[in-house]
Amino acid sequence: MIEEQGEIATASKSSELADRSTPFIRKEWYVAAMGGEVSRKPISRTILGEDIVFYRKQDGTAVALQNRCPHRSFPLSLGQVDGDKIVCGYHGIQFHSDGKCAFVPSTGTAPGALRIESYPLKEVGPFIWIWMGGSECLDESLFVDQPYFSEGWRWVHGYLHMKANYLGLHENLMDTSHFPFVHGAALAQPEHAEVKQKIYIDGDAVVLEILHKRTPIFSQKLQCIVGGSSEVDRLGYAKVRGPAGNFGHLKFTNPGNENEFYTDYLLHLITPESVHSTHYFWALVRNVLTDDEDIQKDIYQLAKTAFMQDVVALEEVENLLARDHRPSFREKLIASDVGGVQVLRLLARLASEERTGSRALRS
Ligand code: FES
Ligand SMILES: [Fe+2]
Repeated sequence: MIEEQGEIATASKSSELADRSTPFIRKEWYVAAMGGEVSRKPISRTILGEDIVFYRKQDGTAVALQNRCPHRSFPLSLGQVDGDKIVCGYHGIQFHSDGKCAFVPSTGTAPGALRIESYPLKEVGPFIWIWMGGSECLDESLFVDQPYFSEGWRWVHGYLHMKANYLGLHENLMDTSHFPFVHGAALAQPEHAEVKQKIYIDGDAVVLEILHKRTPIFSQKLQCIVGGSSEVDRLGYAKVRGPAGNFGHLKFTNPGNENEFYTDYLLHLITPESVHSTHYFWALVRNVLTDDEDIQKDIYQLAKTAFMQDVVALEEVENLLARDHRPSFREKLIASDVGGVQVLRLLARLASEERTGSRALRS
């Protein structure tokens, strides 16, 4: 057992928590790509163990299809886009953007049986989202609204390929006690390791709230916004409703003053590639200095550096798991793991509900 932190207590790691043996949750919107990655030239990406080809139609709409020709399994991403169709590079079979076969050159026909799977997509802000639950089960209500990808806001965003299981990233994001050790002085003060996190359940989501006092501000321009101070209080808020993301909101105030200077939305968008690898997309959206290109570059660099530090740590864990096989080893939980444990519990429940067909809409 671990002790209570914040408003709820948790149990030890057990079968009610998601682990590597838990099936991927498929009825979910995941980020598949950054919009700029997808063009008229097809690209492939593996998501939840399925190889998928992406390209854009003539009107710019993104398309996602099974990246495996039903004839001899040639990757369609190595073929050509012709109009809105994709043409296999092996024997030239053509497919429409909805996955129906358009033409088989050797027979002059278009058999219905040669259909490939197509995936619903949604392009919002810098990201293309994919529904992995099957077109017939499409559920728009599970898409998390992102109203800040609009006028008056500016964002930086990026992608990291992580050679580690996605659950470790969820746990990492719900435990800020690693900040001083993994990220150092750029993001945290040494005493931040001891700050109590408030963890609670909101509807069907797990929420983390944390106040970091005296957080360093790296940019002089941002320091001007907070009245010349080089430190600021940062109220962090992170919400997890499912496997595909940790949606954060950061509010910056002056030490001892409740007035908010500016706000950031911080999105960690998590798409399992396989049990041992993850697509990690991120975005940081702000409402200040939106026209400033220097700050744009500085925030991008700071964020990318910080998130890469987490990736390096999680890849070290994954590597160790692959080479150390002591049979009696069990990870021990400590109080700051409450948020991560709650997320693992949520994901185990969603996976179980998906298996039994009892999955309800999320609030
Ligand atoms: S493998 Fe694609 S047309 Fe034959
Ligand atoms: Fe981190």
